[in-house]
Amino acid sequence: MASILFHIIFFCLILRTTTASGSSFNQNYEPYFGLDHFKLIQGGQDEAQLTLDQNGGAGFRSKAEYQSGRFHIRMKIPRQKTRGIIPNFYLISREESGIHTELDFEFLGTTGDLQTNMFANDLGGREQHFHLWFDPSEDFHSYSILWNQHQVVFLVDNIPITVYKNNSAMGAKFPSEPLHIEATIWNGTWVGNVDWSVSPFTTSYRNFEITGCQADNANPEKCASPEFKWNAEDQWDLTPQQKQKLENIRKKYMYYDYCNQPNAKSKYPECAVSRS
Ligand SMILES: *[C@@H]1O[C@H](CO)[C@@H](O)[C@H](O)[C@H]1NC(C)=O
Ligand SMILES: *[C@@H]1O[C@H](CO)[C@@H](O)[C@H](O)[C@H]1NC(C)=O
Repeated sequence: MASILFHIIFFCLILRTTTASGSSFNQNYEPYFGLDHFKLIQGGQDEAQLTLDQNGGAGFRSKAEYQSGRFHIRMKIPRQKTRGIIPNFYLISREESGIHTELDFEFLGTTGDLQTNMFANDLGGREQHFHLWFDPSEDFHSYSILWNQHQVVFLVDNIPITVYKNNSAMGAKFPSEPLHIEATIWNGTWVGNVDWSVSPFTTSYRNFEITGCQADNANPEKCASPEFKWNAEDQWDLTPQQKQKLENIRKKYMYYDYCNQPNAKSKYPECAVSRS
C-alpha cells in the first residue's frame, strides 16, 4: 500500500516537473493582431491557432527581443489546398529600429512549397524555394532558425535547407540587431489566388520554449558569448554530414535560388562563394 502511494506521489512529481519545464504560450508569446482569429488551447502542451478568412488573418509574437539563438517551433499548416496564403514563422527587427532585418520561413500556399529568405540591413531578395518531401498540412513538423555570429541556418525537422554565412568580410550584410519572433497567416496575390470557397484556413503551432539570448542594451556583447550552446564552435559551420544533407536537399527539392538569377553575384557577394 505504502509502495503504491509512493508511486502515485512520485508520478505526480514527475508530471509537475514536466509541465513546469515545457514553456506555456503566455510565458514567451502574445497575440498581436486579429485577436478574433486567434485561439489558444491550453493544456499539457499549449497549442496556438491562427485562422485566415476573407475578413482577415492573425499573428502572435515573442514578448522579448533576442540577439542569437536556436529558435524553434512545431507547426501544421492549413489542410485545405489553396494558393495565395502565407502561413509562416520568422524573426524580425522592430519597426522603430529603422533597420529592416528578417529571417523567414514562409509557406507559399498550402501545397508544400516553402520559401526561406533573409533581409539584412534592408536588403532582402535572398529567396530559396523548396517543394517539401512531406505534406506540411498533415502533421506537426519542426522549423528552426539557428542564428549566431557565424551563420544563419534554416532547418526543417533538423535538416538544414538554407544557410547564410557571415560574409561581412566580403561586404555582405549579416543580421546583428535585436530580433523578435513572429508567426502570422495572411494572403497576398504574389503567391496566387486564394480559393476562399474552402476557407477558413487554420495553422496550428506548438512548442513555445525559446532557446535564445535576450538582447540587453547595457551588455551588447552578451549574446555572442560561447557559453550559449548555439554559439559554441561546433555551431560555426555545418558538420560534414549536414553539408551532405544540405546538398541533397538543394538538388532534390529546391526549385528556385536567388543566386541563380541574373546579376546575383554582383548584388550578393555570398553568391560567388561556397554557401555551406
Ligand atoms: C560577422 O563576422 C565578423 C568577422 O568577420 C564579426 O566581426 C562580426 O561581429 C560578425 N557579425 C555578426 C553580426 O555577428
Ligand atoms: C486578402 O483577401 C481579402 C479578401 O479577398 C482582400 O480584401 C485583401 O485585399 C487581400 N489582401 C492582400 C494583401 O492581397
